[in-house]
Amino acid sequence: MSLPLHWIERIQKLPVLPQVALKVTERIQSPTATITEISDLIRSDIGLTSNILKLANSSYYSIPGGVTDVAKALQYLGFNTIAQSVLTASFFGAFKANDAREFPLPPFWAHSFAVGLLAEIAARSLQFKNPSDAFIGGLMHDLGKVVLLEIAPDDLSKIVRHAEAKKISFIQSEEELGFPSHALLGVEFGKYWKLPATVLSAIQNHHADSTSRDDLVVSWANLWVHAQKIGSSGNYSANDPQVLANVIAKKIGLEANKLTLIEKQFHLEFEKAGAILNAH
Ligand SMILES: [Fe+2]
Ligand SMILES: [Fe+2]
Repeated sequence: MSLPLHWIERIQKLPVLPQVALKVTERIQSPTATITEISDLIRSDIGLTSNILKLANSSYYSIPGGVTDVAKALQYLGFNTIAQSVLTASFFGAFKANDAREFPLPPFWAHSFAVGLLAEIAARSLQFKNPSDAFIGGLMHDLGKVVLLEIAPDDLSKIVRHAEAKKISFIQSEEELGFPSHALLGVEFGKYWKLPATVLSAIQNHHADSTSRDDLVVSWANLWVHAQKIGSSGNYSANDPQVLANVIAKKIGLEANKLTLIEKQFHLEFEKAGAILNAH
């Protein structure tokens, strides 16, 4: 199913993702990246600079004397947290204007960030080449939903109300009402945002039966986060998401001992979510 023309026209009027956000993530993965280089990149964007300083000065980090310089913030926070924070702030910053009663943004951001964080931790444990791509894919897997909130809020409300009334998932509700899926809308918008190909594929296939491990790690993280009831994303299915999560975990090699460590690390790191989510 293709997207309605008026949706495509509206997409092209939405804000673009600051290219510095993707650049920071890409450079941070390089073994030759330096604090000076990354700080210079961040400093080139005033909004991101203030986000990073706000995050570094949040009570979560409680750095003695506070931080007024990006390079110092980088030393305390580390490359990985900086990359996560820059992307999260850029993503949420582009969509913070709207809200709908049926689809409140704060729990949606929590859902998105949790999926990104968990997918990245799992990708690292599975020794994927670019675990940051799993973070971006996880963070943005439901991108299509917030795009819909911007371009056709009444349609989004209709989908959520139908899902709630019939106790079905968001994607089933879209299908029953004859709307294109949020996965398709997310991919189209992801192209407009110039997201890397691996990320586009993860967005497109996060509800599909993919054979790519890069896609599956995001699908698994999404199901796991649903099972743990962290945040929400307009989903009202009565099925237990853990059942499918277990099937996918097996497929990608997440055995029980690995899973225990991943889950433990997730809970430790998710504590900083509040600081990141509030800093944008
Ligand atoms: Fe989804
Ligand atoms: Fe989701």
